[in-house]
Amino acid sequence: MKTRIGILTGGGDCPGLNAVIRAVVKSATKRGWETLGILGGFEGLLHPTRTRALDYHEMDGLLYLGGTILGTSNKGRFSGKSGHGETRKIDPGVLAEARAGVESLGLRALVIVGGDGSLTIAQQCFEAGIPVVGVPKTIDNDIAGTVVTFGFDSAVAFATDALDRLRSTAQSHDRVMVGEVMGRYAGWIAAHAGIAGGADVILIPEIPFTYESVCRVVNEREAQGKRFTLVVVAEGAREAGRDFVTQGETGAIREARLGGVGAVVTGEIGRRTGKETRVCVLGHLQRGGSPTTFDRLLCTRFGASAVRLIVEEKYGYMVAHHPPDTRAIPITEAIGCLRTVPLDGDIVRTARDLGISFGD
Ligand code: F6P
Repeated sequence: MKTRIGILTGGGDCPGLNAVIRAVVKSATKRGWETLGILGGFEGLLHPTRTRALDYHEMDGLLYLGGTILGTSNKGRFSGKSGHGETRKIDPGVLAEARAGVESLGLRALVIVGGDGSLTIAQQCFEAGIPVVGVPKTIDNDIAGTVVTFGFDSAVAFATDALDRLRSTAQSHDRVMVGEVMGRYAGWIAAHAGIAGGADVILIPEIPFTYESVCRVVNEREAQGKRFTLVVVAEGAREAGRDFVTQGETGAIREARLGGVGAVVTGEIGRRTGKETRVCVLGHLQRGGSPTTFDRLLCTRFGASAVRLIVEEKYGYMVAHHPPDTRAIPITEAIGCLRTVPLDGDIVRTARDLGISFGD
């Protein structure tokens, strides 16, 4: 009987998931193995299991296809995260059922592609006896232990293009334009796209801001004859002393749905400076579409590397990018704490050197 491995995608979608699937299937096929895709994230492991055979020939075109052909979920019995680096314990009965699912499918190992929450679940699956290897995914780029996650570069490219477009309107209408990007606990997208897109103000979760400081930038630019201002704000950015701006429910299990801080910031800037101010929320547009060249390459390396980990029986490990190489690190090194933008790092210092304000 052929060796059979499984792969599942967990958490939010992200550019490059299909590229990882393709790389895993191709590398497995090269070794004479077959690959089973688990449908709908971790839930697909539970009885009755939901799977799809992944044939080598079906991989054509997946390298640049957005989303995940396996489907995914960040809710249900496997919601693995309930806050910043916090871990929710998955019911042992559910983990045992997942293990029985893996065994009934005859899987030698399971590749789990996901962010902080999914990797937290991956570790619990490993501890429950499932041979897993992890692949770090998230546009937020906030997973510890890897220099970069796949999806981040694609999201930054999209956000930078959006800021270029917002600048056109800002400049033409002498307005303040505010672009809201994703980034729940870490401001990597805002910081990178803000610098690459020439923003004047970058608001990130790591640096609480004040409206006095933000409006000072707008007014100073006005005094210099620069009649427009470009602001980028991460969804998790907070006014000093205030909490996240959320949309609706904060269930005990799921994380609060963020979003709306851009509109709040826009209202305050307009009211305090008298400038015409508009907001544009990029939202899930950042998670869709084709991965960039960088991400296609990273996903392909991650997928191939994950299969090598299975060959070496290095279970409980995940692949990580440490240029110029990909490495294996224990999943435990990547979960429980998030990689945020360092306040004394090169990105923040570069921005400050250029006169970009963080609103502090
Ligand atoms: O973790 C990635 C992320 O894009 C966060 O920045 C955002 O808060 C979250 O996903 C939104 O997820 P969804 O709307 O799909 O529940």
